[in-house]
Amino acid sequence: MRNALPQAVSRRQILGAAASGALAALEAGRAEAKEGRHTSMIGVPFAAHSVVRVGLIGCGGRGMSLLNDLLGIEAVSVRAVCDIVAEKVAAATEAVTRAGHPPPAGYARGDHHFEQLVLRDDLDLVYVATPWNWHVPMAVASMRAGKHVAVEVPAANTVAECWALVDTSEKSRRHCVILENCCYGATERMVLRMIQAGLLGELHHAEAAYIHDLRGILFARDGEALWRRAEHLKRNGNLYPTHGLGPVALYFGINRGDRFTKLVSMSSPELGLTAYQKATTEPRDPRRSERYACGDMNTSLLKTALGRTVVLQHDVVSPRPYDRNNLVSGTKGCFRDYPPRLFLDGQEGHDWQSIDAYRKEWEDPLWRRLGEAARSSGHGGMDYIMSWRLVECMRLGLPPELDVYDAAAWSAPAELSEKSVASGSEPVGFPDFTRGLWNERRTGQEAGV
Ligand SMILES: NC(=O)c1ccc[n+]([C@@H]2O[C@H](COP(=O)([O-])OP(=O)(O)OC[C@H]3O[C@@H](n4cnc5c(N)ncnc54)[C@H](O)[C@@H]3O)[C@@H](O)[C@H]2O)c1
Repeated sequence: MRNALPQAVSRRQILGAAASGALAALEAGRAEAKEGRHTSMIGVPFAAHSVVRVGLIGCGGRGMSLLNDLLGIEAVSVRAVCDIVAEKVAAATEAVTRAGHPPPAGYARGDHHFEQLVLRDDLDLVYVATPWNWHVPMAVASMRAGKHVAVEVPAANTVAECWALVDTSEKSRRHCVILENCCYGATERMVLRMIQAGLLGELHHAEAAYIHDLRGILFARDGEALWRRAEHLKRNGNLYPTHGLGPVALYFGINRGDRFTKLVSMSSPELGLTAYQKATTEPRDPRRSERYACGDMNTSLLKTALGRTVVLQHDVVSPRPYDRNNLVSGTKGCFRDYPPRLFLDGQEGHDWQSIDAYRKEWEDPLWRRLGEAARSSGHGGMDYIMSWRLVECMRLGLPPELDVYDAAAWSAPAELSEKSVASGSEPVGFPDFTRGLWNERRTGQEAGV
């Protein structure tokens, strides 16, 4: 077995630097909010772009996948790429030139070299696909440098970080889009259309989850293992809320007529990672001394202003099949995913029906149009559709479909669940990141969500 010490040292360095960067970004955001007026970014259109010039920060597993999607979209020009690992910048550069584009500028000189990338004058949009602690410093720096930013999930780890994104977006007049690809799944987009057409009646309850056995990834020697397992050492709550919550928030029209008002959370005991550690590492492996704080299954219950409820779960350490739950219940019926199925009022018996019969009528127009091209991309095609639609909104001068208020509302359960768990499951209030505009009707997005 290889010596794991260099890996442990570099992880500490990465997290330490990220934490100080996040703090600086927070202070900058607060100072800006104090000075400036809070003018909402809801419904603010992009300027129309004939070409969308993109810079990418983070060329790891996710960044390379996003890059390949972007390279397959007309009117995208990737001008700059950044990673702390020079070989990853080289691989990203190679991917760009292989796709027939000029080589992008490379930034590989340390943790803060991204600060130079965002200052370039030939970028419209920055994609951020780095470890969680870097999302907010990078997003804030991008917006302050006049660029729109698209951030991987969760967009932020704490409520203060969520506010830093909101404050900076409002002050800079730049959008902070959350790259919540699950909102662009074929099923999610179709169910959203069915809900908007009233097929499920009035909605009252939903269930969302991120249940994905990541034990092998968390204990690998590279990629996410370098930073993600460390989150389980110090935090106990829902570390990754947005894949489940994003689609459900759109079903409920969160920030578009409803909002989350409070959350209460419980965690089951921590067992899974410790069992995996014991079963897969040698006694002298430094990882053997790690003690994990995060309970295996975290369950939160969210309440909305309209009185509706959401059960939100997170478990990445148990042997069970992948599941985002994706359940939504209304006065006329219920949809539940994995596999996608439906029960409509008046139906005989107690069995679900497959949703397949509804696909012809209710398939999302984007999927109908792009499905073939999309299917070879990440996560069954949802990734390509997400980036394609963001680029289209920028080309046509539309508002983004997912904005900074979505990024904040869907990411906030991370810290809120931790707080509730730490307090013995007391309810915690949910900030209104829209500053009172959650009930406004959206305009200019009729074609999208
Ligand atoms: N939406 C999805 O389906 C999905 C899937 C996977 C990962 N993600 C998210 O994408 C992000 C990245 O995950 P990943 O799987 O690619 O992890 P990864 O570890 O493979 O890649 C992260 C990359 O960021 C680089 N990096 C770290 N600090 C940096 C800095 N200061 N400046 C520049 N580069 C830096 C690392 O060297 C690495 O190459 C995470 O937020 C993760 O949650 C989302």
